[in-house]
Formats: sequence, C-alpha cells, structure tokens
Amino acid sequence: MNSGPQLHQVDVLVIGAGAAGLTAALSVPEHLSVAILAKDPSGGSTRWAQGGVAAVIDDEDSVESHVQDTLIAGAGLCHQDVVDSVVSNAREAIDWLIEKGVTFTKSDESFHLTREGGHSYRRILHAADATGWAIQHALDRQAIRASNISFYHNFIAVDLCYNRGLGPKTQRVSGCYALNNQTSEVDTFLAHAVILATGGASKVYKYTSNPDGATGDGIAMAWRAGCRVANLEFNQFHPTCLFHPDAKSFLISEAVRGEGGILRLPDGTRFMPRFDSRAELAPRDIVARAIDQEIKRIGADHVFLDITHRDAKFIRDHFPTTYQRLIELDIDMTTAWIPVVPAAHYTCGGVLVDSHGETDLPGLYAIGEVSSTGLHGANRMASNSLLECIVYGRATAEHISQTSQTGLEHTTFIPWDASQVVNSDEDVVIAQNWA
Ligand code: FAD
Ligand code: SIN
Repeated sequence: MNSGPQLHQVDVLVIGAGAAGLTAALSVPEHLSVAILAKDPSGGSTRWAQGGVAAVIDDEDSVESHVQDTLIAGAGLCHQDVVDSVVSNAREAIDWLIEKGVTFTKSDESFHLTREGGHSYRRILHAADATGWAIQHALDRQAIRASNISFYHNFIAVDLCYNRGLGPKTQRVSGCYALNNQTSEVDTFLAHAVILATGGASKVYKYTSNPDGATGDGIAMAWRAGCRVANLEFNQFHPTCLFHPDAKSFLISEAVRGEGGILRLPDGTRFMPRFDSRAELAPRDIVARAIDQEIKRIGADHVFLDITHRDAKFIRDHFPTTYQRLIELDIDMTTAWIPVVPAAHYTCGGVLVDSHGETDLPGLYAIGEVSSTGLHGANRMASNSLLECIVYGRATAEHISQTSQTGLEHTTFIPWDASQVVNSDEDVVIAQNWA
C-alpha cells in the first residue's frame, strides 16, 4: 500500500552509486549515517570502464611525466595545482582500491601496466579489459556490508533542497527531493552534507559510449541551486566505439591501440601518422577528429582498428570481454579488423568545486564526472577519470568528517511542490537530436 511521500533523515546523502559516490560513502567515518541514492539499477558509467586507472608505478616513470602528459592533453586549460595533487595521490588511491578488494591484472609478480593515448609511459593499471566492473563490484560489496550505509535504488533525485537564508553566504544545502519509482511519490531526504556523484551528460548525444542514465542530472540540479558550472563545451569523443547495427554503445578500449592496434581506412591505409607524430597514441581528441575527418573525406561510415598482428592468445587474454562481445557479433578480432567510429564519451566540465569537492553552496559537494575540478581542462587524458573519482571521493569524505565532528543538525522540512516543475524547450532539442 502506498503510504504517501516519505521523509528520510541522514547525516550524509550521496546521490549516485558509481566509483565516486561509493568511494565517498565508504570513506566517511562510521558514526555518520549515509544514504546512497541511485536512479538506475543497471548503474552508471563506472561498470563499463575498460582501460583502467592511471598511476605512476614503474621506476622509470615519474609523477612529473604524468603531470606533463595530463597538462598537454588538457590543451593548456588544466589547473596545474589540481593536476599535481591528483597525480601525486594516485598511488595511494590504488592502494585504497586494492585494500577494498579490487584485483588488478599482474604479469609475474608486478602489475601489468598498459598504455593509452597521451601517456608517455605504460602507467595504466587494469583488471583485464573490465576494470570498471572490478571496481564497481568490490566497492558495492563493501558498501552493502557497512552498517552505516543504506541504499535507495530506483530513486531519481529531481532537485536539491536548501535553506534560503538571508543572503547567498547564509544558504546551505539541506537535502534533496527524489522520485521513488516504486511508489511514484516524491520523497524528501534531509542531510547535513549532500554529495552529487551523478556522472556525466554524454547521453545528450545520440551516439555515445555511455549508459542511458548519463543525462547530466547533477549538473542541472546544482545549476538550479545557484552553483557555478564550468567547461560544459568540452565534450570528449572516444575515437573507437564499435560500429555495428546490433551493438549499442560498445567501446573498443584505447588499450587496444596501447597494445599495438592500428587505425586503417577501408582500403587498409594507415592514416594517423599523417595527423600526429604520436599516431594512434595521440590524445583522444586528436585521434577522434582525425577519424571524423577521414570518414567525411572518403564518405565512409567508419574506419577499422586492426590488432590482428598480435598473437591470438595475447589478444584473448588481455581483452577477454571485448573478444567475447565481438565473437557474439561474428567479428573475430584476432583475425579481422574491427569497424569503429568516434562517439560521445566524457563530460570534461561540470559543477565547479574546490580542492575537497565543495561547490558554491555550502554543504553541497560534487565528485566524479559531474564535477569540474580543473584536472581535465579541455580534454581528459585516458584513465584519469576513475583516478579523479577515488581521489576526490576520499578528499570530500575527509572534509565532511572534519566539519561534522559532533551530531548533525537537520533543518526545516519543506515538502516537494510539484508546481516547481517547468517544461523546457530543451526537451524538444534533445528528442530531436536522438531521432
Ligand atoms: P557513474 O559511474 O556514471 O555513476 C553515476 C551514478 O549516479 C549512477 O549510480 C546513476 O544511477 C546515478 N544517478 C545519476 N543521476 C541520478 C539521479 N538524478 N538520481 C539518482 N541517481 C542518479 N575512465 C577511466 O578512468 N578509465 C577507463 O578505463 C574508462 N573507461 C570507460 C569506458 C566506458 C564505456 C565509459 C562509458 C566510461 C569510461 N571511463 C573510464 C570514464 C569513467 O568510467 C567515468 O567517468 C566514471 O566511472 C564516472 O564515475 P562516477 O561515479 O562519477 O559516475
Ligand atoms: C578506454 O578504455 O579506452 C577508455 C579509457 C577512458 O575513458 O579513460
């Protein structure tokens, strides 16, 4: 029986159950109660991540080199202090993931490090070609076991609530309204701290590597609450999504190029060296633009990715998920070229935050793909996103724990007012772009 809209009160409300949200939830002290909201049982982008997590592990590599590569990929628009800080914390982030149960692929006794576009060294830790799944699975398991964390699946956050105060500085977030899909009621969640971890907005494009839920909800909610957003014009296209009528949103990891994959036109010509001396391993904006240019120049639907020159066992061992998915579609990547096209992949901008993830609205944090930290600039370098989720998830939790030593006070409860909902012309634009 439907008992009407419910009121839930917790210390910390996390909206989003991907790498960023789960990291923050698992990192706040256990005396704080945490609610995690997730709109979609099939999850966000995290579980689809393939390539891995970038971190300096090899003695020949250096933090300075990882910083430089990130700054170059970001086309001069990264914030160097943020890049320095995230890259310096990468090793610790990896140790934290391992402690939480993530198993990275090893070669003999050491981690197998792969390479991706823009990186000068092999520095990508990975779990075969399903790194995101390994992270999601391990963090889910830990969060389900934690006595202070409750999950609210199938709840869609629709707006933030906050105390209006007497002026901008006196405002503070107080929770959110969320549509409970089971009851069709809009419940209210009150919390002292609210963390937006809602992922990116690439689903505004018809062709995307992202799952359907990547609709930028957190960016919209923060904007409506008066927070600044930044760099939303920088939408990253991944160069190599599978081109196939029966496959929706399937990515062919950049690690395939990292392990020697070559991009070819339908007649077999290799074209990337004409565009950049780093060829297939140039930063992905350069590779995606080159493919787009070639497709338009010759009037093709797609180009091909060819890794058939590598040993078949090596390919099957390193890319088991991709190999299996392609076999289902009658493409054997050990002997056949893979048809690929660029597709919308990552929202480089987002809600503007400080070094511990706090937005312009006190008590409201944004972490992971929803945020704009300054790490990515105009173009994110491969495998820096999961890293950012972990580093900022932990920094945000640390900040909340410092500012919430004692019991947390809740604020006045204002029920959801359906008249706040306005129809927007943007619905029409998005529907048209998807058609
Ligand atoms: P997500 O994992 O996207 O999670 C968002 C969560 O928010 C979900 O639980 C969703 O249900 C919830 N949510 C959204 N809106 C609402 C709402 N209104 N109410 C309630 N819940 C809501 N990055 C790398 O670093 N390395 C890689 O190898 C890599 N490979 C990738 C491969 C693919 C195919 C894709 C799509 C991305 C890849 N990325 C990779 C990028 C990376 O996976 C994402 O940027 C990262 O996982 C985002 O994590 P997140 O926690 O911010 O959001
Ligand atoms: C990939 O595996 O190519 C995706 C890596 C990323 O988006 O960081």
